[in-house]
Amino acid sequence: MHHPESLIATQLKNDPRLIQAKKLLLETLEDYQKKITTIKPPNSELEQSYHELLETFMNLRGGKLYFPYIGSGIGKGALVELLDGSIKYDMISGIGAHFWGHNHPDLLFSTIDAALSDTIMQGHLQQNVDALELSELLISASGLDHCFLSSTGVMANENALKIAFQKKAPAHRVLAFEHCFMGRTLAMSQITDKPSFREGLPSSLHVDYIPFYNVNNPKESTDLAVSMLRKHLSRYPKQHAAMCFELVQGEGGFFPGTTEFFTALMKILKEHDIAIIIDEVQTFGRTPALFAFQYFNLQDYVDIVTVGKLSQVCSTLFRTNYKPQPGLLSQTFTSSTAAIQAAKVIINSLLQDNYFGPNGKIIKVHEHFAKNFKEIETKYPHLIKGPYGLGAMIAFTPYDGDFHRVTKFIHELFKAGVISFIAGSHPARVRFLVPMGAIKPTDIDLVTEIVQNVLLSDA
Ligand SMILES: Cc1ncc(COP(=O)(O)O)c(C=O)c1O
Repeated sequence: MHHPESLIATQLKNDPRLIQAKKLLLETLEDYQKKITTIKPPNSELEQSYHELLETFMNLRGGKLYFPYIGSGIGKGALVELLDGSIKYDMISGIGAHFWGHNHPDLLFSTIDAALSDTIMQGHLQQNVDALELSELLISASGLDHCFLSSTGVMANENALKIAFQKKAPAHRVLAFEHCFMGRTLAMSQITDKPSFREGLPSSLHVDYIPFYNVNNPKESTDLAVSMLRKHLSRYPKQHAAMCFELVQGEGGFFPGTTEFFTALMKILKEHDIAIIIDEVQTFGRTPALFAFQYFNLQDYVDIVTVGKLSQVCSTLFRTNYKPQPGLLSQTFTSSTAAIQAAKVIINSLLQDNYFGPNGKIIKVHEHFAKNFKEIETKYPHLIKGPYGLGAMIAFTPYDGDFHRVTKFIHELFKAGVISFIAGSHPARVRFLVPMGAIKPTDIDLVTEIVQNVLLSDA
């Protein structure tokens, strides 16, 4: 219905030359991808120039790169080539953005469609039918009523907070969990619970923190969170507009809560008419349900939900009673046409292919990693400890979880051919945001072997 045959754009899309051209492009790409079979160390003759480029890059951006990573622009699934000629396993996918791995054929096709589209970017005044289709997809999958697209996760969170503040004005305080992460704009860096992320910034928001769930003390931690919430509510009556929830703390260390924990708090928030915002920028598509709030069965409580990262285009989803006044939300760019087209492909595939539920790929991949890590832990209990995370968010604690040692470990792991990242600080963990749309069982076993070798080399 959105693509009538009579439109010139539909005729272009169905032109046999275009279909042929896509086939040819894919064949060409695949010929070169055949050279990418497994990890590979850097080419020694490229090392010097690579090192110089890294220095230049760091100077240009005015700060260090976390890893000595400059991509060459080609990869195959979970493997990626860097400009020094090395090939590495990418287990962090740009901190969760490249869920389909590197050079996925479906995204090649959607990007060609985007290249033939009339504009590079879409935004206010000019949005194409694909932005409408993406909004429809997110609304029907979430069960919420409205969808406002944006280009970054932090902007989706800003929009969420603005919607909540406007609805609840003059309430001006926010509730959030200790160790949460919501991004780093001026407002969000006030909520994100990490002092170094707000160092030197003026305080612009009143945030009241609540301790998160502790898996080792479920009842005590729930009681503590509830009593802290009640304390804040009685100290500042009618002043809270919203509470922000990260259902699995990402940057904080891959800590999931539970349905009982969240509902204990959400019931009180509902009684006080405080908006419930779920930040799914990291969890979207990674738990055994499309939205983590669905996995934790919180549909009846959520008012506003934000998504990002693997969705390529970010979004603030909200219920009708949170509809903002005209003027509150707008921006030049919603996103690029390529990102919007890719978002549709990725979300449709997540919904149609077998990713979710007890027999879905997300649980299977998780169990495979968990089994492998458990085997290392059984053999070498001093080297690695669980919890191993949730779904496509995989984590383990190397050694004693000391931040500096774990930082050193992930840099050694990088050199050995596996890209990961750190999460949390007490303990610090190694986290993988697995490229679920690309990873194969053989990749999991090889990555585990490399992890074990690097753990042993520094034991
Ligand atoms: C839970 C959460 N919220 C918000 C953000 C910010 O998203 P972005 O970096 O796209 O602005 C992140 C990014 O890591 C995140 O993990």
